Amino acid sequence: MAQNNYLVEMKDIYKWFSGVCALNGVDFNVGYAEIVGLLGDNGAGKSTLIKILSGYHPPDSGKIFFEGKEQHFSSPREVRSLGIETIYQEAAMVHKMSIMRNIFMGRERGKVDMGFAKYLDIEQMERESMEALEDVNLRLRSPHAIVDELSGGQRQGVAIARAMYFKSKLVILDEPTNNLSVKESEKVLNFIKELKNQGISSIFISHNLYHVYPVVDRVVILSHGEKVGDFQKEETSLEEVTELMVKP
Ligand SMILES: Nc1ncnc2c1ncn2[C@@H]1O[C@H](COP(=O)(O)OP(=O)(O)OP(=O)(O)O)[C@@H](O)[C@H]1O
Ligand SMILES: [Mg+2]
Repeated sequence: MAQNNYLVEMKDIYKWFSGVCALNGVDFNVGYAEIVGLLGDNGAGKSTLIKILSGYHPPDSGKIFFEGKEQHFSSPREVRSLGIETIYQEAAMVHKMSIMRNIFMGRERGKVDMGFAKYLDIEQMERESMEALEDVNLRLRSPHAIVDELSGGQRQGVAIARAMYFKSKLVILDEPTNNLSVKESEKVLNFIKELKNQGISSIFISHNLYHVYPVVDRVVILSHGEKVGDFQKEETSLEEVTELMVKP
């Protein structure tokens, strides 16, 4: 049997939006415990590609393999249950809910009372939330704090803690460092490195090369819906990648 070296393989992916070709035959792979930077200018097709990989859009054509098996994703929920977690800067969490409820969203711990009513096991979730946050060295006052009160970087941290705690295999971060201070961006980069240490792969999307370059193993560059570069970091340079990103 053929040995598969990739966690994710997307082959010849096409996507049109009413006449606009957002992806024009893109091949995109992610290895095991690999950090891939997905780069490109505004409108290059980055978000569209990862929305296909997250189950939000079906591709118009092309194939997707995860852990060597061909997939036909029918929903984001299905994709999440396979271990692919997507984190958006704003939409990753419900801001009016507590950190704890966000960590356990869709995976609430419950217990059964006298064989009848099932209710949430708050204590269990409190304990586990604190564990999950400690795992990423995130010190927050209480798991009951409302997500709205956290900084952008802390929010990313909670989302990453959730991905780690539930043993995701792939974490996709779409522009996670946008609107973050330098210090907070650094923290997010450290979280991404920590994912790798735990054997978790990640895709770090940005149109800011300088945000992704320090942590990635490989860079993939999209331009106008096509892949124009795919390099191991040591095979390329900041200059070469910049040039490919800005080419008209
Ligand atoms: N839901 C949609 N409906 C119509 N057109 C869309 C839709 N989503 C994306 N597009 C178009 O597809 C192209 C690629 O968009 P996409 O959002 O993937 O770019 P991006 O690389 O993520 O850009 P940015 O850096 O600005 O986030 C653009 O021309 C965009 O207008
Ligand atoms: Mg985008």
